[in-house]
Amino acid sequence: MLVCVASDNERPAHSLANTASGSLDILSGPLAKMSGSLVAFSAQDELFSPQIDHLGIAVHSIEAAWRFYELLGMEVTHRETVEHEQVHTAMLPVGESRLELLEPTTEDSVLGRFLARRGEGLHHIALRVTGLDERFRQLQSAGVRLASDSIRVGAGGHRYFFVHPGSTGGVLVELVEAAG
Ligand code: CO
Repeated sequence: MLVCVASDNERPAHSLANTASGSLDILSGPLAKMSGSLVAFSAQDELFSPQIDHLGIAVHSIEAAWRFYELLGMEVTHRETVEHEQVHTAMLPVGESRLELLEPTTEDSVLGRFLARRGEGLHHIALRVTGLDERFRQLQSAGVRLASDSIRVGAGGHRYFFVHPGSTGGVLVELVEAAG
Protein backbone atom coordinates (compact mmCIF):
# COMPACT_ATOMS: atom_id res chain seq x y z
CA MET A 1 0.00 0.00 0.00
CA LEU A 2 2.32 2.72 -1.18
CA VAL A 3 3.14 5.05 -3.99
CA CYS A 4 6.77 4.76 -4.80
CA VAL A 5 9.65 2.81 -3.40
CA ALA A 6 13.03 4.33 -4.04
CA SER A 7 15.28 1.52 -3.02
CA ASP A 8 18.71 2.76 -4.00
CA ASN A 9 19.69 3.15 -0.36
CA GLU A 10 19.25 -0.48 0.41
CA ARG A 11 22.28 -2.06 1.91
CA PRO A 12 23.41 -5.65 1.91
CA ALA A 13 22.47 -7.77 4.88
CA HIS A 14 25.17 -8.12 7.46
CA SER A 15 27.08 -11.26 7.12
CA LEU A 16 25.03 -13.48 9.39
CA ALA A 17 26.45 -16.37 7.45
CA ASN A 18 29.77 -15.88 9.23
CA THR A 19 28.18 -16.45 12.61
CA ALA A 20 25.48 -18.84 11.53
CA SER A 21 27.52 -21.96 12.02
CA GLY A 22 28.63 -20.73 15.41
CA SER A 23 26.44 -18.67 17.73
CA LEU A 24 23.10 -19.40 16.11
CA ASP A 25 23.66 -23.11 16.44
CA ILE A 26 23.82 -22.90 20.19
CA LEU A 27 20.44 -21.18 20.49
CA SER A 28 17.69 -23.28 21.90
CA GLY A 29 13.94 -22.77 22.14
CA PRO A 30 11.77 -20.87 19.65
CA LEU A 31 14.64 -18.89 18.12
CA ALA A 32 16.50 -22.05 17.25
CA LYS A 33 13.55 -23.13 15.17
CA MET A 34 13.86 -19.94 13.14
CA SER A 35 17.63 -19.85 12.76
CA GLY A 36 17.50 -21.92 9.62
CA SER A 37 15.52 -19.29 7.75
CA LEU A 38 17.65 -16.44 9.10
CA VAL A 39 20.71 -18.11 7.70
CA ALA A 40 18.98 -18.83 4.42
CA PHE A 41 18.04 -15.16 3.93
CA SER A 42 21.52 -13.84 4.67
CA ALA A 43 23.21 -16.34 2.46
CA GLN A 44 21.56 -14.98 -0.63
CA ASP A 45 23.12 -11.90 -2.13
CA GLU A 46 19.95 -10.67 -3.78
CA LEU A 47 18.11 -10.26 -0.46
CA PHE A 48 18.66 -7.03 1.46
CA SER A 49 17.95 -5.76 4.96
CA PRO A 50 14.37 -4.56 5.33
CA GLN A 51 13.56 -0.84 5.42
CA ILE A 52 10.60 0.71 7.22
CA ASP A 53 8.22 1.31 4.35
CA HIS A 54 5.32 2.77 6.29
CA LEU A 55 3.43 2.78 9.57
CA GLY A 56 -0.28 1.99 9.31
CA ILE A 57 -2.58 3.99 11.60
CA ALA A 58 -6.22 2.99 12.05
CA VAL A 59 -8.57 5.98 12.19
CA HIS A 60 -12.31 6.58 12.13
CA SER A 61 -11.86 9.42 9.65
CA ILE A 62 -8.91 10.15 7.38
CA GLU A 63 -10.08 13.76 7.03
CA ALA A 64 -10.12 14.28 10.81
CA ALA A 65 -6.76 12.63 11.44
CA TRP A 66 -5.16 14.44 8.53
CA ARG A 67 -5.75 17.84 10.15
CA PHE A 68 -3.02 17.22 12.70
CA TYR A 69 -0.43 16.02 10.19
CA GLU A 70 -1.30 18.94 7.92
CA LEU A 71 -0.24 21.29 10.72
CA LEU A 72 3.19 19.68 10.56
CA GLY A 73 3.41 20.49 6.87
CA MET A 74 2.84 16.90 5.81
CA GLU A 75 0.88 16.19 2.65
CA VAL A 76 -1.23 13.34 1.39
CA THR A 77 0.38 12.20 -1.85
CA HIS A 78 -1.82 9.24 -2.63
CA ARG A 79 -5.33 8.13 -1.76
CA GLU A 80 -6.83 4.82 -2.70
CA THR A 81 -9.60 2.49 -1.65
CA VAL A 82 -8.54 -1.14 -1.40
CA GLU A 83 -11.81 -3.00 -1.84
CA HIS A 84 -10.67 -6.44 -0.78
CA GLU A 85 -9.35 -5.03 2.49
CA GLN A 86 -12.38 -2.77 2.88
CA VAL A 87 -10.19 0.27 3.62
CA HIS A 88 -9.68 3.79 2.38
CA THR A 89 -5.99 4.69 2.54
CA ALA A 90 -4.05 7.94 2.51
CA MET A 91 -0.26 8.07 2.29
CA LEU A 92 1.73 10.87 3.93
CA PRO A 93 5.47 10.82 3.21
CA VAL A 94 7.72 11.35 6.21
CA GLY A 95 11.42 11.24 5.46
CA GLU A 96 12.11 8.13 3.43
CA SER A 97 9.10 6.43 4.93
CA ARG A 98 5.35 7.12 5.10
CA LEU A 99 2.36 7.15 7.35
CA GLU A 100 -0.60 5.23 6.02
CA LEU A 101 -3.93 6.40 7.42
CA LEU A 102 -6.49 3.61 7.24
CA GLU A 103 -10.22 4.19 7.44
CA PRO A 104 -12.69 1.29 7.15
CA THR A 105 -15.17 1.42 4.27
CA THR A 106 -17.70 -0.28 6.55
CA GLU A 107 -17.92 -1.01 10.26
CA ASP A 108 -18.41 -4.66 9.41
CA SER A 109 -14.83 -5.24 8.26
CA VAL A 110 -11.57 -6.39 9.83
CA LEU A 111 -10.44 -2.80 10.35
CA GLY A 112 -13.90 -1.69 11.49
CA ARG A 113 -13.90 -4.40 14.16
CA PHE A 114 -10.33 -3.48 15.15
CA LEU A 115 -11.46 0.12 15.72
CA ALA A 116 -14.53 -0.96 17.69
CA ARG A 117 -12.40 -3.19 19.90
CA ARG A 118 -9.19 -1.19 20.29
CA GLY A 119 -9.96 2.34 19.16
CA GLU A 120 -7.77 4.42 16.88
CA GLY A 121 -4.04 3.84 16.94
CA LEU A 122 -1.04 2.15 15.43
CA HIS A 123 -2.31 -0.78 13.38
CA HIS A 124 0.75 -2.23 11.67
CA ILE A 125 4.31 -1.57 10.63
CA ALA A 126 5.33 -2.32 7.07
CA LEU A 127 8.83 -3.52 6.20
CA ARG A 128 10.01 -3.27 2.60
CA VAL A 129 11.84 -6.41 1.55
CA THR A 130 13.09 -8.15 -1.55
CA GLY A 131 12.21 -11.69 -2.53
CA LEU A 132 8.66 -11.59 -1.19
CA ASP A 133 7.60 -15.01 -2.52
CA GLU A 134 10.63 -16.67 -1.04
CA ARG A 135 10.19 -14.91 2.29
CA PHE A 136 6.56 -16.01 2.43
CA ARG A 137 7.56 -19.63 1.95
CA GLN A 138 10.51 -19.49 4.33
CA LEU A 139 8.58 -17.81 7.15
CA GLN A 140 5.80 -20.32 6.70
CA SER A 141 8.14 -23.28 6.85
CA ALA A 142 9.93 -21.76 9.87
CA GLY A 143 6.66 -21.92 11.78
CA VAL A 144 6.00 -18.18 11.78
CA ARG A 145 2.29 -17.43 12.08
CA LEU A 146 1.18 -15.55 8.99
CA ALA A 147 -1.96 -13.41 9.02
CA SER A 148 -2.36 -13.71 5.23
CA ASP A 149 -2.94 -17.02 3.50
CA SER A 150 -1.26 -15.72 0.36
CA ILE A 151 0.51 -12.71 -1.12
CA ARG A 152 -1.96 -10.01 -2.15
CA VAL A 153 -1.89 -6.84 -4.24
CA GLY A 154 -2.66 -3.58 -2.42
CA ALA A 155 -2.72 0.14 -3.09
CA GLY A 156 -0.39 1.20 -5.87
CA GLY A 157 -0.28 -2.36 -7.20
CA HIS A 158 2.28 -3.45 -4.64
CA ARG A 159 2.47 -7.00 -3.34
CA TYR A 160 2.33 -7.69 0.39
CA PHE A 161 1.35 -10.09 3.15
CA PHE A 162 0.83 -9.80 6.89
CA VAL A 163 2.54 -11.61 9.76
CA HIS A 164 0.52 -12.24 12.90
CA PRO A 165 1.47 -10.28 16.07
CA GLY A 166 1.84 -13.59 17.87
CA SER A 167 5.10 -14.18 15.99
CA THR A 168 6.53 -10.66 15.89
CA GLY A 169 6.61 -9.34 19.45
CA GLY A 170 3.02 -8.16 19.49
CA VAL A 171 2.73 -5.96 16.42
CA LEU A 172 1.05 -6.75 13.11
CA VAL A 173 3.82 -6.67 10.50
CA GLU A 174 3.22 -6.14 6.80
CA LEU A 175 5.96 -7.22 4.41
CA VAL A 176 5.88 -5.17 1.20
CA GLU A 177 7.87 -6.03 -1.88
CA ALA A 178 10.48 -3.53 -2.95
CA ALA A 179 10.04 -2.26 -6.50
CA GLY A 180 12.35 -4.00 -8.92
CO1 CO B 1 0.13 -1.01 5.08
